Amino acid sequence: MNDWSKTSQSGQWERINTVHFTDEAIRDLQCFKSNAVNHKLAVWDPRTNGIRYLKELVHNLCTYLSSEEWALLNNIEGRDLGNPYCVTFNGCKVCMDYLQAIFEMQFISRNLSLDAAHVLEIGAGYGRTCHALLSNHQIASYSIVDLGKALQLSRCYLSSVLNPELFKKLRFIAAEDFESLHHSRFFLAINIDSFSEMPEQTVHTYLSFVRERCDNLYVKNPVGKYSDPNFHTHCEGDESVRLALTSGMLRDVIDIYDNGVVAEQKKRFIDAYRPGKNWHVVEESWARPWSFYWQALYRNKGI
Ligand SMILES: C[S@@+](CC[C@H](N)C(=O)[O-])C[C@H]1O[C@@H](n2cnc3c(N)ncnc32)[C@H](O)[C@@H]1O
Repeated sequence: MNDWSKTSQSGQWERINTVHFTDEAIRDLQCFKSNAVNHKLAVWDPRTNGIRYLKELVHNLCTYLSSEEWALLNNIEGRDLGNPYCVTFNGCKVCMDYLQAIFEMQFISRNLSLDAAHVLEIGAGYGRTCHALLSNHQIASYSIVDLGKALQLSRCYLSSVLNPELFKKLRFIAAEDFESLHHSRFFLAINIDSFSEMPEQTVHTYLSFVRERCDNLYVKNPVGKYSDPNFHTHCEGDESVRLALTSGMLRDVIDIYDNGVVAEQKKRFIDAYRPGKNWHVVEESWARPWSFYWQALYRNKGI
C-alpha cells in the first residue's frame, strides 16, 4: 500500500517554494515564463546559464553531423588549444568555433574546388577558418589581412596548430599594408563576421579589391543589427552597443529572431556584398546556427 502522506518535498523543492515561488511570483501570469518561476520549471535561467546553453547547442548540432562532417572535423588537429567550451560526442571533443568552420567549409567546397587555390581572408580572428581549410584541402597559399592585434594572435595560434609545411603557405598582411597586395590575384576571398564590424567605407575598399583581383567571394555575416530589450544587461555597457550599431553596411535594426524578417533583410545582404555588376550569386543560404547570419558565394562572371 502506498502511504500518500509520505509524498513530501525534497530539501531542494522546499527551498524553491520558499525562495522563488512566493504568492506574488506565482500569481504573475504575465511574466512568470521569463522569470525565476519558470527557471525552476521548464527552462534554465539563460542569464546565468549561458555556458550551459552554448554546450547544449553544440551537443544538439553534433547529433546532426554526417560521417563526412565528422571526418572533416577530425582532420583538424589541435582544436583544443585555447581552452574552448567543448562537449564530447562519440569520443570526439567539439566546440562551436570549429563546428561553424565545418559548415562554412562545406558551403564553399561544394561550389568550388579548393585544391591549388590561392585564398585571401579578410578579418580572420585567431585563424579557425584557415586552420580548417588548410587541414582539409591542398590549398596553394593563404593570405590573412587583419588588424595588428588579431594578426599577432593568428600568427601565434596558427604556428602552434599547423605543421611547418602548412604554416609556410601563410602570409600575414596588416590592414594598413593592404596596398601591398595590389599586384596579387586570388581564386577565393573570404569574409566571415567582420565586414559587419568595419566602417562602411572600409568594406567598400575591400569589395573593390575583390572585384579587381579575386575570382570568387564567400561572405558570412549578420543581415542587420539588433536591439533586443532582453539583452540590455549587456556586460560591456551601452558604449559597446552604440559602436556595434554604427559599424558595417547593414545597419537596420531588426528582430533577429523573426525568420520572416531575416529572410526579407537577406535581400539587402546579397546586394550589399556583391562586389560588382559582373558578379553572380553561386549559392546563398541561412548560415546555421545563428538566426540572423546569411552566407553567399559570389563569382566573377568574367572569368
Ligand atoms: C568578429 S571577428 C571574426 C573573426 C573570424 N572571421 C571568425 O569568424 O572567427 C572580426 C575580425 O575582423 C577583423 N577586423 C576588424 N576590422 C578590420 C579591418 N578594418 N580590416 C581587416 N580586419 C578587420 C578583427 O581584427 C577580427 O579579426
